[in-house]
Amino acid sequence: MDFFVTTAAPARQRTDCAIVGVFEKGELSAAAAGIDARIGGRIARLVKRGDMHGKTGDLLVLADVSGAACERVVLVGLGARKNLRRKQYRKALTAALAAVARTGARDVVSYLSLEAVGDADSYTLARIAAEVAGHTAYRIPDQKTSNKRPKSTLTRFGIAAGARGDKTQAERGLEHGRGIVAGMSLMRDLANLAPNVCTPTYLAGAAKTLAREHRSIRAQVLNEVDCRKLKMGSFLSVTAGTEQPAKLIVLEYRGGKRGDAPIALVGKGVTFDTGGISLKPPPAMDEMKFDMSGAASVFGTFKAVAELALPVNVVGIIPACENMPDGRATKPGDIVKSMSGQTIEVLNTDAEGRLILCDAITYARRFKPAAVIDIATLTGACVVALGTHLSGLFSNDDDLSEALERAGERSDDRAWPMPIGEEYAEGLKSNFADFANVAGREGGAITAACFLAKFTDGLRWAHLDVAGTAYVGGSQKSSTGRPVPLLVDYLINQ
Ligand code: BES
Ligand code: MN
Ligand code: ZN
Repeated sequence: MDFFVTTAAPARQRTDCAIVGVFEKGELSAAAAGIDARIGGRIARLVKRGDMHGKTGDLLVLADVSGAACERVVLVGLGARKNLRRKQYRKALTAALAAVARTGARDVVSYLSLEAVGDADSYTLARIAAEVAGHTAYRIPDQKTSNKRPKSTLTRFGIAAGARGDKTQAERGLEHGRGIVAGMSLMRDLANLAPNVCTPTYLAGAAKTLAREHRSIRAQVLNEVDCRKLKMGSFLSVTAGTEQPAKLIVLEYRGGKRGDAPIALVGKGVTFDTGGISLKPPPAMDEMKFDMSGAASVFGTFKAVAELALPVNVVGIIPACENMPDGRATKPGDIVKSMSGQTIEVLNTDAEGRLILCDAITYARRFKPAAVIDIATLTGACVVALGTHLSGLFSNDDDLSEALERAGERSDDRAWPMPIGEEYAEGLKSNFADFANVAGREGGAITAACFLAKFTDGLRWAHLDVAGTAYVGGSQKSSTGRPVPLLVDYLINQ
């Protein structure tokens, strides 16, 4: 999809479809009034008749306008003018673009970006617009042989800007939004794949493809023999029960100065989590194909960063494996030695994410990173604590934590700061090894973070638990693309 900014008056802009707002009680936006003047007051009449009330997301499509330069007009409700915030803007534009998608229009111009939105400037409105447009056009890479959802017909998406200065800001916003949504789409593509397709080997191939597409990205894949040499006993214990070979994928993006320490992104890449010998119950076990969402978000972030040519250095470290039960699988009670040298008593083989992440975090040390951020669908307990709206944010560094929290706010991809600390880590005590891989049921997201913290001495580290935010379960089952917006925003603001 091509994105552009226009400063032409709504009545003069040639397009298949113009999106204009109507406020509560039928008050027309300036753009709606501008078009209305050209089409004989039809919009005002429809509103007066009660066909459009202007509640946020209300829709009315005029498919046969003549007199204006556009072929169609999508009227969308924006709610009360004084309450217009990013949230309503996003909702209205999402509804409008869904309506546009049903018309077969090939290009569209949104005038909603001309409205005064309480908590957004023209950069932000443009960035959101590009994200929403990209999201609407996204299609799951399904294997349907019939009833396939048709591809989106939309090829050009424009937004209106007022003053000249706004135009530059809007263009920058569109560009960043385009990069973010490209990253989110890659994440969603990978995470939505069936687990018999998206194996660790497949992810390794995806890394090579990404490196081929972007000269600024380098990909390296370590196999199990390499990992054995590195003494990654913890990572390897998780893959013991599967036929699928594990991979440690290393991505490098060099956009910053040569000597600048990179940001390390570590993504959990469990391509299917059965729980292992501590087998999960059958209901919704299929959703554990999304247990590589952290890894997918690292791929997506690299895609965005490369598309935007951001002036930063980033390394991505992705431990990828399956967690399966088998005669050779790790058993509860087994003791393994991590790359850090610390020994771990595996009391629950379903707490496998931390076992692969700890070795990946240790591996990250060789890059002398300025910060290490791990991203993982780590605990069901995080979903219990925060639900599906906010990711859990854990860190040993207040500045890093605040920077990530703010990035989440700016990108409407929020994360909530959670505690870590010695009192919580106590539950991990073991009589037989340095510590166990699980504590009690209570505070499960926190004790998991405390486990990871044991491998972060001397590192600036943060952990994002995205178990509740990275995908939607149930009938709308699909990857969300989160937390790519948060991560890219963080890197943009480095
Ligand atoms: N991948 C799961 C966490 C998860 C659960 C993600 C539900 C998304 C939705 C993780 O590997 C896991 O199984 N965690 C256990 C930890 C427990 C054994 C301490 C969990 O949350 O039950
Ligand atoms: Mn598990
Ligand atoms: Zn898992």
